[in-house]
Amino acid sequence: MAGREFRTQVAIIGAGPAGMLLSHLLAADGIESMVLETRSEEYVASRIRAGILEQSTVDLLRGCGLGERLDREGDRHRGIYLQWPGHRHHIDFVDLTGRSVWVYGQTEVQKDLIEARNAAGQEMHYEIADTALHDVETDRPCVTFTDTQGRERVVKAEVVVGCDGSFGPSREHIPMDVRRHWERVYPYSWFGILADVAPSTDELIYAWHSDGFALHSMRSASVSRFYLQVPNDTEPDWSDDRIWEALAARLGHGQDGWALVTGRITDKSVLPMRSFVQTPMRHGRLFLAGDAAHIVPPTGAKGLNLAVADVALLAPALAELIRKDDHRLADSYSETALRRVWRCTHFSWWMTTMLHRGEDPFDEQLQLSQLRWVTSSVAGATGLAENYAGLPIGL
Ligand code: APR
Ligand code: PHB
Repeated sequence: MAGREFRTQVAIIGAGPAGMLLSHLLAADGIESMVLETRSEEYVASRIRAGILEQSTVDLLRGCGLGERLDREGDRHRGIYLQWPGHRHHIDFVDLTGRSVWVYGQTEVQKDLIEARNAAGQEMHYEIADTALHDVETDRPCVTFTDTQGRERVVKAEVVVGCDGSFGPSREHIPMDVRRHWERVYPYSWFGILADVAPSTDELIYAWHSDGFALHSMRSASVSRFYLQVPNDTEPDWSDDRIWEALAARLGHGQDGWALVTGRITDKSVLPMRSFVQTPMRHGRLFLAGDAAHIVPPTGAKGLNLAVADVALLAPALAELIRKDDHRLADSYSETALRRVWRCTHFSWWMTTMLHRGEDPFDEQLQLSQLRWVTSSVAGATGLAENYAGLPIGL
C-alpha cells in the first residue's frame, strides 16, 4: 500500500458523537486513537439534531468530564406530555422510575466533545476522501484515505471502529455471509422547524392528531423546536403561516386555555423515518458503534443515547483488548450492545406507531386506546417512563 503511514492504537472512522466520545473515553484510559472524518469541523459542529439526553447519557458525560456546560445550560425535565384532541396528560418519569431526562441539544454535546478533544491535542483528520478499510480479519487492520492535499494516507491500527453513521463504508465491510440486517421504512416523515421563540410548554408535548403527529420540543428558554408528521418526499418549503397553523391545530391551541406562541422560524428541514439494525456489531478487529450499526426513528429521541451507550461499552472492551490482550469484553460487545439496541428499536417503533396517523381507521382506534391506557394506568405509564428515561448502560 503506497502513501504516508500513520500508526495509532484505534482508528476511528467518523467524528459524530459516537466517534468523538469514543476517542475521549479511550484517551481517559490511556489508549491512543486517530479520528477520520469526511466533513469539516465546522459542519460537524453545527448539524441540527435531536435534543434529549437520557439519565445514563448525562451520568456518563458528567463522569468523563463533559458535564460542566450541560449542568449549566441543560434543562432537567421530569417527564413529557402525551396528548390527543381534548386530552393532555403528564407522564412523570421521576415519580415513576426515579430517573429524568435533560434538554441539551446534540449539537451542544458535539461542540463540547470537539472542544475537549482539541484541548487534549487529539489527532483528527477532517475533510478526507476515499476512506477504505483493510485487513480487519487480521491483527493488523488499517484504513486508507486521501487527505485535503490529495495525498494518499495509511493508518495502521490495532483496532478499527466504524462510527461513520448511516452512510459510511464500515458496516458494508462486514462480509455478506456474516452480516444480517433488519429494516422498517415508515410511510411518513418529520418536518422539523427551529424557531426563535420561548417554548409554550415547560416539558415536551407529543401530540396525536387526525391531521398527523406533532411534537413541541425546545432547545433553550428562547429557542423552540417543533416537528410535524408529513408525507414522504414533502419539500420543506411550507410558508411560515402554514407551519404555525398546522402546529396550532395539532398541538391544541385554545384547548383548556393553552396557547401556542409563534416566532421567527430559523430552519426548516424534512427527516425520513427508518428503523435499521445490522448484526453483528463486531467482525474481527472491526467494531461498529452508533448509527453505523443501527438507526431509530426520532420519536423518543433514542439515536444519540444509543450511540453513547455503545461507546460506553466499547471503550473499556478495547482498553482490555489492547492493554492486556484480554478479549472477553470485546467478544461480548456485540451481544451486550444489541440487547439495548433492540430494546430502543422496539420503543422507538412503538412510540412512532402509537402517535403517527396512518390510513387504517382500525389502527386509529388502537392508537387512542393505547394512549388512554398509557396515560391512565401506572403500569402503562411506567413502561413508557422506564424506556424514555432509559435503562442503565449494560442492562
Ligand atoms: N469516512 C469518514 N467519515 C465518514 C464517512 C467516511 N467514509 N462516512 C461518514 N462519515 C462521518 C459523517 O460525516 C459523520 O460525521 O461519520 C460521522 C457519523 O456521525 P453521525 O451520523 O452523527 O453518527 P453517530 O456518531 O453514530 O451518532 C449518532 O447522530 O445521526 C444522529 O440520530 C443519530 O443522534 C444519533 C447520533
Ligand atoms: C428534539 O428536540 O429534536 C427531539 C425531541 C424529542 C424527540 C425527537 C426530537 O422525540
